[in-house]
Amino acid sequence: MSPDPGVDTNPDPRPWPLPRPEVEALQAYSAPLEGRRGLLRLDFNENTVGPSPKVVAAIRAIPADHYAIYPEYDGLREAVLRNLDPGGRSGLQPAQVGLFNGVDAALHAVFHAYGSPGERLLTTSPTFGYYGPCARMQGMAIEAIPYRLPDFAFPLEAMHTALASGPPPRLLLLCNPNNPTGTRLAPGDVLALAAAAPQTLVVVDELYEAFTGDSVLPPLLAAAAGGDPFAAHPNLLVLRSLSKTAGIAGLRIGFAIGAAGLVDRVGRVTGPYDINSFAVTAAFAALNDQAYVDGYVAEVLAARDGLLKRLQAAGVRHHAAGGNYLLLWPRQAPAVVEDRLRQEEQILVRSMAGKPLIDGSLRVSLGTTAQMQRFWQAWCRVEGLDVSA
Ligand SMILES: Cc1ncc(COP(=O)(O)O)c(C=O)c1O
Repeated sequence: MSPDPGVDTNPDPRPWPLPRPEVEALQAYSAPLEGRRGLLRLDFNENTVGPSPKVVAAIRAIPADHYAIYPEYDGLREAVLRNLDPGGRSGLQPAQVGLFNGVDAALHAVFHAYGSPGERLLTTSPTFGYYGPCARMQGMAIEAIPYRLPDFAFPLEAMHTALASGPPPRLLLLCNPNNPTGTRLAPGDVLALAAAAPQTLVVVDELYEAFTGDSVLPPLLAAAAGGDPFAAHPNLLVLRSLSKTAGIAGLRIGFAIGAAGLVDRVGRVTGPYDINSFAVTAAFAALNDQAYVDGYVAEVLAARDGLLKRLQAAGVRHHAAGGNYLLLWPRQAPAVVEDRLRQEEQILVRSMAGKPLIDGSLRVSLGTTAQMQRFWQAWCRVEGLDVSA
């Protein structure tokens, strides 16, 4: 029977126009980001003490009438280059630095510029949670190769095999060191993967490289000897951020470094003023105060050593590699421990529930020695361990 023409048979009663099918199928990226102030934040791998006083002073010095002016970015790319290569001998050019509203925005731009429906994103599993939504937004197919148990080693052979089979993937996303497993990939292996896949855009997300020095940039700069470091790797894009080390995650600034043409293409899909003036001012001050970042990184690494000794002595199952975080497997249900740490101890940690290979663990960010001592005492109370052990 044909429908009565007077009756609205549209099964979808929504009055607004539907977006692209890929967007309609997406779930908004949600992270438990609310109500965190005042608590010990060991849940997002942020800097736990805040930025350099020089950053704070620079922001306070912005005259109020400047708020009325659109941001200016002149000199910021050069400041990034000076920070990456204080001697200025590397051959890296300002046009090889892209500026973004955090590395999240750089990732979004990469997918927007390069990902088309049906094309393949090759990555690892488990890895940073924003790659997946970015790929799905573009309708890409995701091929995620699992880390190798028992110690979450990088699946290098499988990755090379996947790169070589079928049409080249459009994108290869490497998180190095990986969040959340901490897995480290030697810079030479990253470069070899990029060289093996010249048709693929290889993005290496180096958000946490400062904690273990796993970056591809030093070997690239050294090998170029004053020439273009990306001449031999025009398909490689390196992502860096000031969020986790310099302590300005709330201001949002990140960088993409690669061949000038590649940086240009990724930058084409951003808005003209996506990075605000406060972030620009903070970035200049943070990039000029590397000593502060180095001091914070050293503090985190010392705290890490102390916590690892305690975990080993107490026989707590854990996994620590690169980055300013580690995984812990509690004796009780992870959700219970996460909740009690928050409610009773005012400490935030991140449950890895539902993540392949690490379901049942909690990811704990590393802060200062004093903060990690506080965390350890709280962990012992919640888990019923002897603190003095
Ligand atoms: C691996 C990784 N990449 C990118 C980001 C986002 O960094 P940003 O604050 O620069 O946007 C994060 C933040 O947690 C991350 O862990």
